[in-house]
Amino acid sequence: MCGIFAYLNYHVPRTRREILEILLKGLRRLEYRGYDSAGVGIDGGNVKEWETNAKSIQLIKQRGKVKALDEEIHKQHDLDLEVELDVHLGIAHTRWATHGEPSPLNSHPHRSDKTNEFIVIHNGIITNYKDLRKFLMSKGYEFESETDTESIAKLVKYMYDNRENDDITFATLVERVTQQLEGAFALVFKSVHYPAEAVVTRRGSPLLIGVRSDHKLSTDHIPVVYRSSAKEKSCSSLPRVDQDTSLFPVDEKAVEYYFASDASAVIEHTNRVIFLEDDDVAAVTEGRLSIHRIKRRAGDYPARAIQTLQMELEQIMKGNFSSFMQKEIFEQPESVVNTMRGRVNFDDNTVTLGGLKDHIKEIQRCRRLILIACGTSYHAGVATRQVLEELTELPVMVELASDFLDRNTPVFRDDVCFFISQSGETADSLMALRYCKERGALTVGITNTVGSSISRETDCGVHINAGPEIGVASTKAYTSQFVALVMFALMMCADRISMQPRRREIIQGLKVLPDLIKEVLGLDDEIQKLATELYQQKSVLIMGRGYHYATSLEGALKIKEITYMHSEGILAGELKHGPLALVDNLMPVIMIIMKDHTYVKCQNALQQVVARQGRPIVICDRDDYESISNSCRTIKVPHCVDCLQGILSVIPLQLLSFHLAVLRGFDVDCPRNLAKSVTVE
Ligand code: F6R
Repeated sequence: MCGIFAYLNYHVPRTRREILEILLKGLRRLEYRGYDSAGVGIDGGNVKEWETNAKSIQLIKQRGKVKALDEEIHKQHDLDLEVELDVHLGIAHTRWATHGEPSPLNSHPHRSDKTNEFIVIHNGIITNYKDLRKFLMSKGYEFESETDTESIAKLVKYMYDNRENDDITFATLVERVTQQLEGAFALVFKSVHYPAEAVVTRRGSPLLIGVRSDHKLSTDHIPVVYRSSAKEKSCSSLPRVDQDTSLFPVDEKAVEYYFASDASAVIEHTNRVIFLEDDDVAAVTEGRLSIHRIKRRAGDYPARAIQTLQMELEQIMKGNFSSFMQKEIFEQPESVVNTMRGRVNFDDNTVTLGGLKDHIKEIQRCRRLILIACGTSYHAGVATRQVLEELTELPVMVELASDFLDRNTPVFRDDVCFFISQSGETADSLMALRYCKERGALTVGITNTVGSSISRETDCGVHINAGPEIGVASTKAYTSQFVALVMFALMMCADRISMQPRRREIIQGLKVLPDLIKEVLGLDDEIQKLATELYQQKSVLIMGRGYHYATSLEGALKIKEITYMHSEGILAGELKHGPLALVDNLMPVIMIIMKDHTYVKCQNALQQVVARQGRPIVICDRDDYESISNSCRTIKVPHCVDCLQGILSVIPLQLLSFHLAVLRGFDVDCPRNLAKSVTVE
């Protein structure tokens, strides 16, 4: 996830300093979407040069947070900050790396060529970028970054260089570019050939436009202009923008436009916004905003309303959610899709993890897989151990990084060691990584933070693409780590004929997973009600076995870290070896019982709890009438393939911990004594 922001002033005189301040402020608001590097693209040179048509675009980019970019801008001594620009477009980006490590070269804006004829900022992932890159390189375009986005900047120049006539519009060029793109994107383009014109578009990534003018606007609905056919190659330009199809101040006076990934970056300037739809191409030319589409889809509303936002800034950043943790729990239908995007092909049942494919043969020959992590990331290892053992037919060890180091665990050259870490900076995991490297093992990172220490220091790896996680309690990173490890297991057995039916079953399970997660999230009200009954308790026991032992550990960790209640995850198979002594008619007990190979044994455990006057709350399959009749309460979740069921069984516990913490009056996002990234041993 990245943040994009652009600002266009039309007959509103602004100094370059003011313009940069607006851009930086927009980026600061969007920093939660990514903060490994940032950049801006503005008109360079002085006003005189602009008047004489000697246009130039200046890019300033810096690794790190927006603050680092701010400092970098103030080091540009040749940039006249006081020059006044009456009409100007500036674009800005804060990055969450998906392709290529954080560095000035990989950060946005990306450019078409060394003279910056076209520049672009992008949020999303272009899945066919390698093909585009190959094509453009064959045409002589030289690439300077490792990103998917750079191919967009080159492609728009290619379209421009190969235009059939000189009056082609900027919007037409961009429309042609988008026809070649696969994946998800929100894009803002700027060009020296179209000064002070902005063209923006989106497909699958958010983008909105804020409008500010002291003057009456021509309309409150912008009609969408449809181009008749996408195949109409001979049509060089989109329909001309006229008074009926564009937005402008009626007396042609000053107007300002803001383009942003979300409303938090715009709200301090204006509350009048237009939310773009997928495949809209919006263009500002001479202060007029128009919206185009290639063709009309069934059910399309042929206009975009200018809406008035009623929300406060803080509310907008968290959407309708009261905390980032809650927002992140509800983001999981999308975050798991982002983990799979461009990697799982549901038509031919193939899985490709680009960062691992050159190492798969070596991994298949290894002595054992060792998964090393801390906290929730460790639980993702526990959750997937069984499917890894099944599909790789290798011994799999799951290790807490601190304990692994304390034991001086023997590690060999033919071991493959995985380091699972949301932040990629956890000190214990990092120390364990260095320890394994010294012993010659192949090291693999499973991280959510490109450019983090773990992703840099491992030999290869997978970026889980869950997007920034802000709440200290990890939620969406866990489910994305889970999915990434399952994808790895699937890749390892791609050539095994005997495994194909199982692989197909799991891949089809991945396909329906986002919808099933949505169904589980629909239980929120029911779980909130349960929380009102439990929140004054001192302790909660959570029991599971097989695939759901990890769920019990993770559920208990969530409860203890944000509610400060005592909670224990218990392997149901160990119940009679001690924990059963805790069970009575007062102790809250949550049991996870799913219809898999441990079902009968879990039913035995349920009976043991009931026999001690326990009052179990059971998370079970919807049609599990046995559990429903034997427990005092059930949370019924949809059924999916056994090895993915743990993703569905953990979400009720994420929701429960959240509601318990709220009812107990604690700050959900910032639990006491904890930090998001534990960089000390
Ligand atoms: C719990 C939690 C922590 C982290 C642990 C490892 O909700 O967030 O237990 O999982 O500190 O952090 P990463 O994954 O960044 O290595």
